[in-house]
Amino acid sequence: MIVLGIETSCDETAAAVVDDHEPRPRIRANLIHTQFAEHAPYGGVVPEIAARAHLDRIDGLIERTLDEAGVSFHELDGVAAAAGPGLIGGLLVGTMAAKGIAWAAQKPFIAVNHLEAHALTARLSDGVAFPYLLLLVSGGHSQLLVCAGVGQYRVLGTSRDDAAGEAFDKTAKLLGLGYPGGPAIEQAARGGAPARFSLPRPLKGRDGCDFSFSGLKTAVRQIISDRPPRDASDIADLAAAIELAICDTLADRTANAVAWFRGQYPQGATLVAAGGVAANQRLRQRLMALAAAAGLGFVAPPPALCTDNGAMIAWAGLERLHLGLTDALDAPVRPRWPLDGNVPMTAVMAATS
Ligand code: KG4
Ligand code: ZN
Repeated sequence: MIVLGIETSCDETAAAVVDDHEPRPRIRANLIHTQFAEHAPYGGVVPEIAARAHLDRIDGLIERTLDEAGVSFHELDGVAAAAGPGLIGGLLVGTMAAKGIAWAAQKPFIAVNHLEAHALTARLSDGVAFPYLLLLVSGGHSQLLVCAGVGQYRVLGTSRDDAAGEAFDKTAKLLGLGYPGGPAIEQAARGGAPARFSLPRPLKGRDGCDFSFSGLKTAVRQIISDRPPRDASDIADLAAAIELAICDTLADRTANAVAWFRGQYPQGATLVAAGGVAANQRLRQRLMALAAAAGLGFVAPPPALCTDNGAMIAWAGLERLHLGLTDALDAPVRPRWPLDGNVPMTAVMAATS
């Protein structure tokens, strides 16, 4: 089967065509237009600007994606779009485009949960088998969860305040490093000496799998107002301290989840990281070491499949299409759409039995 996937939930307009070729699925085309330049002057994503930019670009992007994949609308087996969670204007643009194509070509439409798409990407990139433990860290979400099957997610912990990506973005803004903050901090931190600044690791050492990052932002603001960074080496040291503090917190909470997962899911063999923050090299190394120490494999998709992209939406669409989980053309967009409770368990059991 072959599916077109459309992603417009935040500040990337993206489209991709993915097939379920054996033994490995193939990304036939994967195009993205990032709106960084449009939002940069404001230091963050402006929903109205994002919606207009999606609308301006979506048709041309889909056309070029199909051209590059060498398929026509009629050769598709389904059309998937991110239907939430995210910014409502962008979600409407992407789902309306997908529904229009699905209706015109008489193909099934699949309303994809953006978080589920991040969660399933390791199956596209590396064929990871269920069940696996997932650290999902993006600009809007930080969660530890068990992925037991398509539509079967058990959330073990979430952020009590900012998401991990938000912690990168907000501290980068304080440092004047621009948006998005994660890649900017990662680059600025190279060669920096993190030990020069002591930053909090909220909840570290406590039971459970919840996160907290808001104390970090306050601490960074305080350091900057006490003694503004004077040169590139001050910035590098502070950026390295921020990156290390976020990685320490994520690794500590993930270690608790790994211990629990090993006891509850003895057949589970893999720790997976996904979402934009999983593109961070220091975090990937930490998680790989942590998994190895617990006897688990570690998988993080290539960085370009960690940050938002169309291939992950097409792949989630394919996985759902295989189970017969398609959606009506009046399916709503869902600006809030938690991952557990994504699909009624009975529907999944009926489709797989
Ligand atoms: O998954 P994503 O592209 O969009 C959302 O669903 O939110 O994640 C974007 C987030 C941003 O907060 C960005 O700063 C962060 O991922 N990010 C990174 C890196 N690349 C992107 N954080 C740390 N290191 C990176 N290399
Ligand atoms: Zn995302």
